[in-house]
Amino acid sequence: MTKGQILVVDDEAAQREILRTILAAEGYQVEVAKSAAEALDKGGRRRFDLVLTDLRMPGADGLSLVRELSREDPPTLVIVMTGFGSLDSAEQAMKQGAFDYLTKPLERDDLLRIVGRAFERMGLIQENRLLRQQLEERYRIEGIVGSHYRMREVFDKLHKVSSSNSTVLIVGESGTGKELIARAIHRHGPRRDRPFVAVSCAAIPETLIESELFGYEKGAFTGAVSRRQGLFETADKSTLFLDEIGELNVNMQSKVLRALQEREIRRVGGHDSTKVDVRIIAATNKNLEEEVGKGRFRGDLYYRLNVVTVPLPPLRERSTDIPQLAEYFVRRACDEAGRPPMPVTTEAMRLLLQYHWPGNVRQLEAVLQRAVLLSDGQKIDYADLPIEVRFSTLPSREPGPAAHGATYRFLLPSGGIELEAVEREFILQAMESSGWVIAKAAKLLGLSYRTLQYRLEKFQISRNGGDGVGAPDEEPGETGPGPRQV
Ligand SMILES: Nc1ncnc2c1ncn2[C@@H]1O[C@H](COP(=O)(O)OP(=O)(O)OP(=O)(O)O)[C@@H](O)[C@H]1O
Ligand SMILES: [Mg+2]
Repeated sequence: MTKGQILVVDDEAAQREILRTILAAEGYQVEVAKSAAEALDKGGRRRFDLVLTDLRMPGADGLSLVRELSREDPPTLVIVMTGFGSLDSAEQAMKQGAFDYLTKPLERDDLLRIVGRAFERMGLIQENRLLRQQLEERYRIEGIVGSHYRMREVFDKLHKVSSSNSTVLIVGESGTGKELIARAIHRHGPRRDRPFVAVSCAAIPETLIESELFGYEKGAFTGAVSRRQGLFETADKSTLFLDEIGELNVNMQSKVLRALQEREIRRVGGHDSTKVDVRIIAATNKNLEEEVGKGRFRGDLYYRLNVVTVPLPPLRERSTDIPQLAEYFVRRACDEAGRPPMPVTTEAMRLLLQYHWPGNVRQLEAVLQRAVLLSDGQKIDYADLPIEVRFSTLPSREPGPAAHGATYRFLLPSGGIELEAVEREFILQAMESSGWVIAKAAKLLGLSYRTLQYRLEKFQISRNGGDGVGAPDEEPGETGPGPRQV
């Protein structure tokens, strides 16, 4: 087994050979170079543990080598060799980051002692790196991908807040990972052994939400044939995740506030209060402060919830995380489909990076799941991405027609496009978003009713992909040519 790899740099052949012999006899693996340039070339192709270099050489001198190597991450340790008369230059080399220096003529024992010390130091550096890596791994949270600094701030807060029982408010656009973070906070906290209880305040009809949250007594209303526990009670000694809390009506806001303040709840139709010990994590994609300002959200509830806020950045503001997320989702989708993992081509990645992701991480996940199914099984290519990602638009830098405010320009994939496919897709989208009412879609597209009708037939676009447009349509408002024809 070798003790380590050393590169010896000296313009004198005899010197190189002496060093090689001594060091090799000690079990080091030695390579030689006769100039700084050759050393950099060799060092560029593989890493050495240690570089021993003469300072004065023709061409680039040893000092420049020291500068280069100490800039690497992690830096390569360099020991410089210098004539006895030029200690100044040795000192200079130390300032540039050299590990140590040797004076010529070299003494075998000195040489081995200093080399040995360099390897000891290296061991420490590596150990530190390992520790740091382990720390980072511990610091990372399973299933949450991201290394953008805004995500690191999220992880930081998550760690601080999980160990406590404090109320947390998670804010962020749809699909940014609010629920994922809420679950992680619970999983890393003192209540992790109890089930996480989640409820979406948007999904439950207003008339049901009170009994859902607080339960009801037998006979509280028609159909209440027996007493039922609410989610606050289910989450006793655990965590209750109130998702989309911005959707609660003001009446329910008061009741939730009371539950938070008094730490007790009253079932619908009941007279007595029941103590509950619930940790609340709430989430919203609304700006609650603004809602408070508009009188739509109770300020006192907002302040109760806002003890710790975790803001989640939209994906477009941390696009450097896209490659990592993409790889993660592709790997997961491949696993699920029982396929070997496959790479994302540069071209496809470029499109993923350019897109603005209004649906954030959730949308990226869905796009890649679909891409894995569509792909040839070898790679994810741009053709496997949906049209809106392939033809994403960015605000143009050139000033556009003032009437339209921002103008948009298309980013074309270098593989070329098929204009008809684009046209078809736009028409399809317009039809879908206008509920298949031709007149509405025509307006959206800036086409006349008749032009759109013609194109629907031409592209054989219909609601169910069969023939003819499904829904009966309104009478067209205008029959003349539209304001703009495609
Ligand atoms: N940082 C991330 N790393 C890995 N997966 C993520 C990340 N963020 C979100 N996801 C995934 O994206 C999807 C959406 O996340 P989640 O449901 O937590 O978002 P949300 O903010 O609650 O969205 P909504 O407001 O629409 O409910 C989930 O499948 C989740 O696993
Ligand atoms: Mg959610």
